[in-house]
Amino acid sequence: MKTGHVELARAQQERWQTAYAHHPQLHGSEPSAAAQWAAEAFGAAGIDDVLELGAGHGRDALFLARQGFSVHATDFSESALDQLRLEAQREGLDDRVTAALHDVRDPLPPADATVNAVFANLLLNMAFSRAELRSLVAEIHRVLCLGGLFVYAVWSVADPCSANWQQLDGGLSVHDGFVGRFFDEQLVAELADQWEFGDATPYDEGRRRLWRVTLTKPAS
Ligand SMILES: C[S@@+](CC[C@H](N)C(=O)[O-])C[C@H]1O[C@@H](n2cnc3c(N)ncnc32)[C@H](O)[C@@H]1O
Repeated sequence: MKTGHVELARAQQERWQTAYAHHPQLHGSEPSAAAQWAAEAFGAAGIDDVLELGAGHGRDALFLARQGFSVHATDFSESALDQLRLEAQREGLDDRVTAALHDVRDPLPPADATVNAVFANLLLNMAFSRAELRSLVAEIHRVLCLGGLFVYAVWSVADPCSANWQQLDGGLSVHDGFVGRFFDEQLVAELADQWEFGDATPYDEGRRRLWRVTLTKPAS
């Protein structure tokens, strides 16, 4: 397993492409628990548009669209995005869901302070260095409007599945060619610097132990 910055990024993009091409609807059609929470939180804040990062084949983007949100979904797997677009069309949701190829290591496309909500389920625990994570979270902060919400979910260090992962350098682990990171409370707190901290809630989903985090871009 190569862990050099560029090689790792390219290898992970290929790994995800292959996974989605060989296993359509890899993550199933049910929305994640975090998306259900986010729909409540965004709705309560009067938000109706969401930027979703690492959306995969769109189980959450489609769920949010069904709830009435306009969703712009991004991922670095074209294969996953094709599945998302097809399903959005099939359900007649294509006026509310757009999808674009984007690697979150690159700057986010939106201009400063133009997005009301960002959602990312199980993206931040992918193969990012801590520096890349800090830049990504700074980018999310940049594009959000004042008072905008960022909801994310990540694997926890308490996840029993972590026992099956082999440790790599820099706090990353690998299993079946997928590289990821298990988050501890300290990392959650570190990434919340510059934000108003809503909550960090540990929860179980299937066999996994996760963190759900809600951050607000301070209004002043
Ligand atoms: C565990 S999956 C979660 C997918 C989706 N959020 C869900 O819950 O169904 C992680 C997703 O992150 C995407 N991903 C990983 N690294 C990425 C990167 N650097 N830029 C954009 N997407 C990335 C993968 O292609 C994959 O779709």
